[in-house]
Amino acid sequence: MSSNTINIKLRVWRQNGPEDSGRFEQYTLDNISTDASFLEMLDVLNDQLIAEGKEPVAFDHDCREGICGTCGAVVNGQAHGPEKGTTLCQTHMRTFGSGQTITLEPFRAKAFPVIRDLVVDRTAFDSITQSGGYVSVRTGSAPDANAIPIGKEHADKAFDAATCIGCGACVAACPNASAMLYVGAKVSYLSLLPQGEVERHDRAKNMVTTMDSLGFGNCSNAGECEEACPKNISVENIARLNRELLKAALV
Ligand code: FES
Repeated sequence: MSSNTINIKLRVWRQNGPEDSGRFEQYTLDNISTDASFLEMLDVLNDQLIAEGKEPVAFDHDCREGICGTCGAVVNGQAHGPEKGTTLCQTHMRTFGSGQTITLEPFRAKAFPVIRDLVVDRTAFDSITQSGGYVSVRTGSAPDANAIPIGKEHADKAFDAATCIGCGACVAACPNASAMLYVGAKVSYLSLLPQGEVERHDRAKNMVTTMDSLGFGNCSNAGECEEACPKNISVENIARLNRELLKAALV
């Protein structure tokens, strides 16, 4: 084995469909480049499984650049793996040691049913976002948006909240499977900007009502969501969401 490759053992959750009870299967992979991304390692595993006439492991991915929010699995108990502020697709195999056993599971939450292996159905997030509705004010083109003066502190906080990629790691990491960090981020960036002012109260109320109806749990301030978030979304957004809800109840 050269110095820049590792041998690993994988314990991977295999589940043929939503009705299957699922089980772990163990695989061995040798000579994996430490420069390979985690998903490239899974590609190698799947090539190996296909060559052996077995079913490849189903896993979600799209951009592989940390921007689309499609990838995600629980790696050794951590949503998106051990690297803080990093999506699974941007995690590299140099993070792991040779001989290590890596356990891979899907995000587990009532609102994210397993479709197959590591793929879960995150339609619930789409439903929450849809219930937030549209921004009714005419925002014009990009130069028009730049012409609206917005204080730097608000602009920065809105931008930080808007970097949420909707991957669902916050839900997977939360002991209550709460989606409050996701909803907090989505409500926050619009409530911080003048363009989001008109519907701010309805938006907060509707998104939380939808979230509650879809089987997500309540927030108990565990803080695991912020810890797991690959975009470092702050729990400050949950506090802002709660303030928005309070204001919405008063108007
Ligand atoms: S595949 Fe797009 S964020 Fe990972």
